[in-house]
Amino acid sequence: MKAARVSVIAGAAILGLALAGCTGGGSSGGSSGGAAGANLTDKGPITYVQGKDNSSVVRPLIDKWNAAHPNEKVTFKEQSDQADQQHDDLVQHFQAKDPNYDVVDVDVVWTGEFAAKGWLQPLTGSFKMDNSKLVASTVDSGTYNGTQYAAPQTSDGGMLYYRKDLVPTPPTTWDAMMKDCDIAKQAGIGCYAGQFAKYEGLTVNVAEAINTNGGTIVGKDGKTVTVDNAKAKAGLTRLVDAFKSGNIPAEAITYQEEQGRQAFEAGKLLFLRNWPYVYNLAKTDGSSMVKDTFGVAPLPGMTGPGASSLGGHNAAISVYSKHKATAFAFVQFLQSEETQKFFVTQGSLAPVLASLYDDASLNQQLPYLSTLKTSIENAVPRPVSPFYPAITKAVQDNAYAAVKGDKTVDQAVKDMAAAIQTASAG
Ligand code: GLC
Repeated sequence: MKAARVSVIAGAAILGLALAGCTGGGSSGGSSGGAAGANLTDKGPITYVQGKDNSSVVRPLIDKWNAAHPNEKVTFKEQSDQADQQHDDLVQHFQAKDPNYDVVDVDVVWTGEFAAKGWLQPLTGSFKMDNSKLVASTVDSGTYNGTQYAAPQTSDGGMLYYRKDLVPTPPTTWDAMMKDCDIAKQAGIGCYAGQFAKYEGLTVNVAEAINTNGGTIVGKDGKTVTVDNAKAKAGLTRLVDAFKSGNIPAEAITYQEEQGRQAFEAGKLLFLRNWPYVYNLAKTDGSSMVKDTFGVAPLPGMTGPGASSLGGHNAAISVYSKHKATAFAFVQFLQSEETQKFFVTQGSLAPVLASLYDDASLNQQLPYLSTLKTSIENAVPRPVSPFYPAITKAVQDNAYAAVKGDKTVDQAVKDMAAAIQTASAG
């Protein structure tokens, strides 16, 4: 089934190339006129822009690249650890046509917006990637309107981190997890946290609650609003109720990924929803109190595993880069098998190369890999739309008001639907 999807995508990419009349080879053209046709064969120093390197994998990679490419050195521009700030920083630099943001790390949910604005170099012509060995959903996440704009670098799927010393068998359903909260109470620690501060992570968690309950936020077209219905409301209600009962501790309303990780490592939480990068840090951080006592399980659902939101980051070349040939070579380096193995072994990041999930020795070293594979295979993409920033804001504003108790779930979902409707109309 995976192979079939890959070939459909490859077909779409070839078709996109034919329709685009080939933007490579020095001719001007592409979605942003001259910029996408310029500097295609130029080599020289470049800058790579990415959010905080929590897993300490970027610098060693760049050192390795620089040692082998003395005339095409890469400088690392490290952004903050917060998804929304990373987004806004990229937008500002693209708007200023900054030639020094050569290769940028694009969250899967920004592809539509950045591509529609003409900021990303289409990966066609001489920049065509070989996607045949990649997990299909990762390629989709870098593709917009049939053209690939960003090369999968790391994927992401939500997983449930749990304290196996307190709960030997992890809950498989949300209801069972809520029952296990008695154990947290007895131990005097918080029960469950995810990402509930008002930023992109909240959209991730709300979408998971809604999708797990069989609801959706928008239809497959990325526009038709579907959130105002009983299933979606029941999903959001789970989060609201858990805040009300204290099963989600009140301070989790301020948590992004890092605050949740720190609370879990400090032994203050029984369950944590987070991404795979937490595995390595919770195992190796000197300060982690749960090194030997935590396990990883699929997100709990209604009757079995829940639906994760599909996360991940892809590398894209800015149309304003002056050294696109070097940028392209660096993007290929990020996707090479060697780099992908480094990402997973050093940082427990989710590979985009499909074969690594089935690699026997990796599975032995990293027992969470099969859980992660299930998470990513069942993951649901967030809406693909050039208006995604407004859509996610509609979700965040209203879900946040609901979990804080400022709006009823009914009202929150109604307002969310209206705001998404307005946003999707452009
Ligand atoms: C992770 C995911 C990304 C998501 C973000 C939210 O970085 O990979 O897709 O948008 O978290 O905070």
